[in-house]
Amino acid sequence: MAYLLGIDIGTSGTKTVLFSEDGKAIASNTVEYPLYQPQNGYAEQEPLDWWNAVVETIKNVLAKSGVNSADIKGVGLSGQMHGLVMLDKNGEVLRRSIIWCDSRTAKECEEITQKIGAERLIEITANPALAGFTAGKILWVKNNEPEIYEKCEHILLPKDYIRFKLTGEFATEVSDASGMQLLDVPKRIWSDEVLEKLDIDKSLLGKVYESQEVTGQITKSVAQLTGLKEGTIVVGGAGDNAAAAVGTGVVKDGKAFTTIGTSGVVYAHTSDICIDPKGRVHTFCCAVPNSWHIMGVTQAAGLSLKWFRDNFCNEEILTAKSMGVDPYYLMDKEVETVKIGSNKLLYLPYLMGERTPHLDTNARGVFFGLSAIHTKKDLLRAVMEGVTFSQRDCMEVIKGMNVNFTEMLACGGGGSSSVWRQMLADVYGLPVNTLENKEGPALGVAILAGVGAGVYSSVVDACDNIIRVKDTQKPINENVDEYNKYYDLYTEIYPSLKKQYEKLNLL
Ligand code: XUL
Repeated sequence: MAYLLGIDIGTSGTKTVLFSEDGKAIASNTVEYPLYQPQNGYAEQEPLDWWNAVVETIKNVLAKSGVNSADIKGVGLSGQMHGLVMLDKNGEVLRRSIIWCDSRTAKECEEITQKIGAERLIEITANPALAGFTAGKILWVKNNEPEIYEKCEHILLPKDYIRFKLTGEFATEVSDASGMQLLDVPKRIWSDEVLEKLDIDKSLLGKVYESQEVTGQITKSVAQLTGLKEGTIVVGGAGDNAAAAVGTGVVKDGKAFTTIGTSGVVYAHTSDICIDPKGRVHTFCCAVPNSWHIMGVTQAAGLSLKWFRDNFCNEEILTAKSMGVDPYYLMDKEVETVKIGSNKLLYLPYLMGERTPHLDTNARGVFFGLSAIHTKKDLLRAVMEGVTFSQRDCMEVIKGMNVNFTEMLACGGGGSSSVWRQMLADVYGLPVNTLENKEGPALGVAILAGVGAGVYSSVVDACDNIIRVKDTQKPINENVDEYNKYYDLYTEIYPSLKKQYEKLNLL
């Protein structure tokens, strides 16, 4: 039996999973690390925290599984997208990584648009200049920390830094590179035009591969450190969403998924490149050759609920501990006792600004309609509903681009809650499926590793054989009608606050 290792370098932690070639998870381990927020709008992580977590989780998974590392035919990497890792000539990290949800680069985004031209930028990179994307972060360091920029010899994305540590290679792949704003997304190569206009030296960037291509091998020192076998191949892998798409079988036209992780994503596959001229959703290369995906992003999806849990649910955390359950389980139970609309309370989930559909780094969270009758449970339900409404916003933009789908898969931490899945089904007005295998991105990159190693003939074939639907939740008509009323009101709140968000930002 062949085995494949999937490593997912997420925002809250790194999850490593060993799969058998039939897609069964044999052993899994997660190690968490901190997120640093030194100022409002800043978000950074320590690349060495990711690396230590990768080493520890590989060791734990190998120990738990008892599998001989010679039977592990390949390693796939997935991870949070857009983060900037800068290395010096010795491969040492120059500063903390500025990660995807950091929004300090408003000025740099203007600079990018002005240098390339708004239309041309969308033509080449398939997206407008966005604060979360890597190019703005590179320019921010250039403008604000020139002494660091001077020393920088390599620019990598989070999972590609791990690739460098595992194999010694400086490389990336098309799906994650699409989120740097330096890739010609239709052609799937670095854009000389963008690099020249932004004065970023191409030699700073790694080689771009397709997701299933072999990018390097595990080195001798890493083999000694982790227990993996020297020479095991490491494939391109994919950004977390493109990886989740493979891990959920969303690799053909007509398929879509919603993830509720730290951020929330609504993702649809398309074999025709298709770009929103207003840039409200992203178009990226996907992990299947000659295909792309359209993706809307809610910045603070699971993050909203985690924020609520950490600040207001101490009681639930303690009770959950004594019961040996997850606090989210108890929070779900509380949500179920409140009716749709949270007693006329709405929540806007803009804790980290927002991407789809507003593209506004100044936007902030709101509870609208707060009254003395409300209790914590109402607020909790409102948070879940608000996140779900913001995902409906994403779905509406994608549908408006004529990228069609008739059912939706739910994944990520939030997708494992049946309360949340029913909410998605009712708010979307679509059946929402879950899968037997819950390992999304880790499975996705293990499948890519299997294609690279010749265990599977193609990504689509492997998905057809491995991915199985477990459960379908159908929309309930009266709920759909009720949610529609709240969703309509929800869509009116942001436009009436846009100016005030700007003022708040200037205070
Ligand atoms: C996608 C995005 C997030 C991150 C973190 O554009 O920013 O999904 O990859 O998960």
